[in-house]
Amino acid sequence: MSKVDVLLGLQWGDEGKGKIVDVLTPEYDVIARFQGGPNAGHTLEFNGIKHVLHIIPSGIFHENKKNVIGNGVLIDPYIFAREIENLENRNVDATKNLYISKKAHLILPSHRMLDAANERAKGNAKIGSTLKGIGPAYTDKIARSGLRVGDILEFDFKEKYELQKFQHQQLAKTLKFDIDSFRIEDLTLEEYEERWFKSLEVLKKFQLINSEYFLNDCLSKGMKVLAEGAQGSMLDIDFGSYPFVTSSSTITAGVCTGLGVAPSKIGRVMGITKAYCTRVGAGPFPTELFDEDGEQLRQKGNEFGSTTGRPRRCGWIDIPALKYACMLNGVTDLFVTKIDVMNDFDEVKVCKNYLIDGKASEELPFEFNSVEILPEYVKYKGWKTELAGIPTFDKLPENLLAYLSELEKMIGVPVKALSVSPDRKDVLFR
Ligand code: GDP
Ligand code: IMO
Ligand code: MG
Repeated sequence: MSKVDVLLGLQWGDEGKGKIVDVLTPEYDVIARFQGGPNAGHTLEFNGIKHVLHIIPSGIFHENKKNVIGNGVLIDPYIFAREIENLENRNVDATKNLYISKKAHLILPSHRMLDAANERAKGNAKIGSTLKGIGPAYTDKIARSGLRVGDILEFDFKEKYELQKFQHQQLAKTLKFDIDSFRIEDLTLEEYEERWFKSLEVLKKFQLINSEYFLNDCLSKGMKVLAEGAQGSMLDIDFGSYPFVTSSSTITAGVCTGLGVAPSKIGRVMGITKAYCTRVGAGPFPTELFDEDGEQLRQKGNEFGSTTGRPRRCGWIDIPALKYACMLNGVTDLFVTKIDVMNDFDEVKVCKNYLIDGKASEELPFEFNSVEILPEYVKYKGWKTELAGIPTFDKLPENLLAYLSELEKMIGVPVKALSVSPDRKDVLFR
């Protein structure tokens, strides 16, 4: 009997999860997504190509590995079909090794419309959603009125669809949202709907399964399963900076409900953090930089959203937030990415604690959104060295090793891997 290893983001998303999953896939038999949906954008780079995945697990480029979209994930069939087409253009035939849970919920075109309606109604308090329909679709799931992948095979699917759409239209009206003038990716609701229904035929070509049985069966046969997180712990519905969060459980606990595996079957938990912080969308960000250093991180790190293209907010690494995420997730191994982005800095900073009302604190307060949080920094000497091509951990510059060792001490979890470029080949394991 094997266990499910978990790989997830410890910050506000975009930590480089897609790249690391792709690098680790050879060690596993199955890669499974357990939450989120097309709000995710996971970038993989190898052999000079760059590929962004949204709903499909990042193991898909490895032909003989199984990939599972679990019950906790949301699927927009139109976006899914587009992803499949992009893969076909790269000669990847996912019909052979992609399995989809019948219990995964569907994002309807009208969910996307409602997402926009909700954001508009919030005005200045808007969340900065990716507008992929995530909030409204998870709302319907919890309200027990959602439609699931398995439903598309039922004779009365269209009827159920129309009922949901009608309810969404009524809701949009109460929000004074003009449905007729609204465009989703330049398409009217009707045009999107037409494509959406066509895309159901693409979805039907895949193996639609009870993925909880499938995965537990894999584990009982001793197969190695890796759960791939989306978003990050600071965007978790319960523990993130609510309401500036996504609508799913992004932490290890979400693996159990999002895949149907028992807590006792969780193995290693690999937590990914950038060597600095980014956030896209609204909400608190104690170490955010508005100066040249922030701009340098954004430019060198190419910090523009993989899903929306929006510039990401950038800041120094935040230890209280990382310790919180490690506690919530039970992180056993820390993976640090994008360290190369800081190669040119004379000195780098680490937020070791917050100052709240003049008092030092390592805890994230309930009032995270409203209280003034001042970061207290420790400075470290930069390493001023190009890192790509360095073959092993022990050959890293001394200043960098000292910085990593300090991070480990502060966070209390060992650094097991370091990523030094967007490419698959540039990860150093310890
Ligand atoms: P994900 O959502 O966690 O999979 O991350 P994204 O793909 O949204 O964003 C990470 C970005 O950083 C992508 O453009 C990656 O190609 C890139 N990236 C990943 N690891 C590294 C790294 O170690 N160094 C650099 N410079 N870029 C990286
Ligand atoms: P990956 O998997 C970064 C953010 C949005 C917004 C908030 C809610 O690529 O790391 P939603 O669309 O879920 O209603 O948006 O969460 N967000 C992400 N930020 N990376 C992501 O995914 C994100 N998915 C959602 O910007 O602030
Ligand atoms: Mg991303």
